[in-house]
Amino acid sequence: MNKIPVAILGATGLVGQRFITLLHEHPWFEIAELAASDNSVGKKYGDAAKWQLPFEIPESLAEMRVLPCDPERVQAPLVFSALPTDIAGDLEVAFAKRGAIVSSNASPHRMDADVPLVIPEVNPEHLALAEIQKQKYASDGYIICNGNCTTIHLALGLAPLHKRFGLKKVLVTSMQALSGAGYPGVPSLDIIDNVVPYIGGEEQKVETETVKFLGKLKGTKGNEGIEYADIRVSAHCNRVATRDGHLETVSVEFIDKPSAGDIIAAFDEFRGLPQELNLPLAPIHPTVYRREKDRPQVKLDRDAEKGMATIIGRLRECNVLDYKFVLLGHNTLRGAAGATVLNAELLYVKGMLEKERWSERVVE
Ligand SMILES: NC(=O)c1ccc[n+]([C@@H]2O[C@H](COP(=O)([O-])OP(=O)(O)OC[C@H]3O[C@@H](n4cnc5c(N)ncnc54)[C@H](OP(=O)(O)O)[C@@H]3O)[C@@H](O)[C@H]2O)c1
Repeated sequence: MNKIPVAILGATGLVGQRFITLLHEHPWFEIAELAASDNSVGKKYGDAAKWQLPFEIPESLAEMRVLPCDPERVQAPLVFSALPTDIAGDLEVAFAKRGAIVSSNASPHRMDADVPLVIPEVNPEHLALAEIQKQKYASDGYIICNGNCTTIHLALGLAPLHKRFGLKKVLVTSMQALSGAGYPGVPSLDIIDNVVPYIGGEEQKVETETVKFLGKLKGTKGNEGIEYADIRVSAHCNRVATRDGHLETVSVEFIDKPSAGDIIAAFDEFRGLPQELNLPLAPIHPTVYRREKDRPQVKLDRDAEKGMATIIGRLRECNVLDYKFVLLGHNTLRGAAGATVLNAELLYVKGMLEKERWSERVVE
């Protein structure tokens, strides 16, 4: 089968390294270009990346020369972005204008009215927004985003409940791993023997992205923007000294309070398009409810379903809202690179990576 050539922007960073492991030997995509900052440009990838994962860098990629993140130099029709926030905004638009489809993990465009912010199990219909961008950029290119690493797992955990019973209020407190801050991230003396009760911009992302994920397409044609879900979300975000895996404690209030058994059934039974279509990176169970009294735990559960599921447990009555529970998710897999690749797999099966655009450049 001919594979679609793809580029990774920010390929040397923590999320970029996850892209390498998920895209190397992918059945539909082939890594054709790797790009990063001026510090890395021209170097072999194996020399430029401070490799952090417990697998070897694939040999062919270790030898590949790193390119600048320049839309004139990076030619792949499908681009995965793990760029830092401060440069992703303008650069991703420049790539979309030159006709690239940008599947982004960065935050600047997530809340744009015409950008689909997608979890394939939760709101695949939001992809309709891409058409608005194509017209705006007068190009075949567009940007599609995944959410913040804490928000993706919160929204995956809330979606089965909101779709079945309707949610009114959500209170969430996160304990977020160090890898969420990139490499080298938080200085060791700031985090050893400590919990830092502040992560810049994080609480706002959790509060706003969640209601966009759970929102509905507006307008009869379904491409006039998103009506955000009418749920009040309040977030506390903390950095803790774990390596990977964000743990979140959540309290929820429903429109009509269901029984605990109904809630657990909703988590157990939740499935979406990735499972129906058998997408390569799809977990079998996107939400997993653990019955043990002390699970999920970061070290034990973050890699369940290859890091692509949200693991939930400890459902009990809440004295303030209706119920409370714990959820956990891998931040650089389903919370970052895994989400970006799953979004691109959805574009592929939906026919949104038009074949004529890459057929001259397919990797045999
Ligand atoms: N880590 C997570 O769990 C996570 C989760 C969700 C979203 N995100 C988002 O994903 C993005 C990447 O995060 P990360 O954790 O991988 O960060 P990181 O480890 O700091 O990596 C940053 C990457 O961007 C490149 N870069 C830096 N400055 C650049 C410039 N001026 N021009 C071009 N490339 C530049 C770096 O290249 P050099 O090596 O050459 O400097 C590196 O490849 C960020 O937007 C972050 O907010 C991260």
